[in-house]
Amino acid sequence: MNKKGVFIVIEGLDGSGKTTQAKLLVAKLRRYKAVYTAEPSKGKIGKFIRRRVLYGAKRFPTAVEALLFAADRLEHIQNEVLPALAEGCVVVSDRYIYSSLAYQGSAGLSLEWIEAVNRHALKPDFALFIDVDPKDVEARLKRRKSVMENIETQLKVRQIYQSFIEKGELVKVDGNKPKELVAEEVLKQVLAFLKRRL
Ligand code: TMP
Repeated sequence: MNKKGVFIVIEGLDGSGKTTQAKLLVAKLRRYKAVYTAEPSKGKIGKFIRRRVLYGAKRFPTAVEALLFAADRLEHIQNEVLPALAEGCVVVSDRYIYSSLAYQGSAGLSLEWIEAVNRHALKPDFALFIDVDPKDVEARLKRRKSVMENIETQLKVRQIYQSFIEKGELVKVDGNKPKELVAEEVLKQVLAFLKRRL
């Protein structure tokens, strides 16, 4: 399948507002035929992850978690991302490989190993991180918290995201502002990227 479109990824902590921002971005990029998609995906493995891994009674071994997310990612790419890219769409994914690096990495897995099991995953063209203070988001987290949603995990997760910002792989957007201002900044960054790219 030929890749004609552009693959954009939005990352952030739980409760950072990244889903809202990814959806606002898609609405604002309508003239680019933008589509919203997310991980865990709506495929079979993604549904299993939401039901059993994130809200299961007992946490899976971290390596198993990482393999499940990696398998879901390949299904997501095959079934949703590549077909939309082949039609020339801008695909905006709410979470991608950086979530595995940050979350499963924060649980103790080596980043090299996580990268290795994701070797066949398509590289994003542009990746943004909506940065918020982990203490501020605690109040915004869902009442039914997943296994990832506690302050210690979120602090470690943010540190790993930070290392990818430093490497230049993720572009940071300040998510502590009102959502309209964050949306403007996200759009500005993406339009600047599209201008460079198209
Ligand atoms: P969501 O709340 O954005 O739908 O994300 C679901 C949870 O899944 C979130 O706590 C982060 C976690 N997650 C991982 O741990 N590894 C991954 O690779 C992905 C995609 C999500």
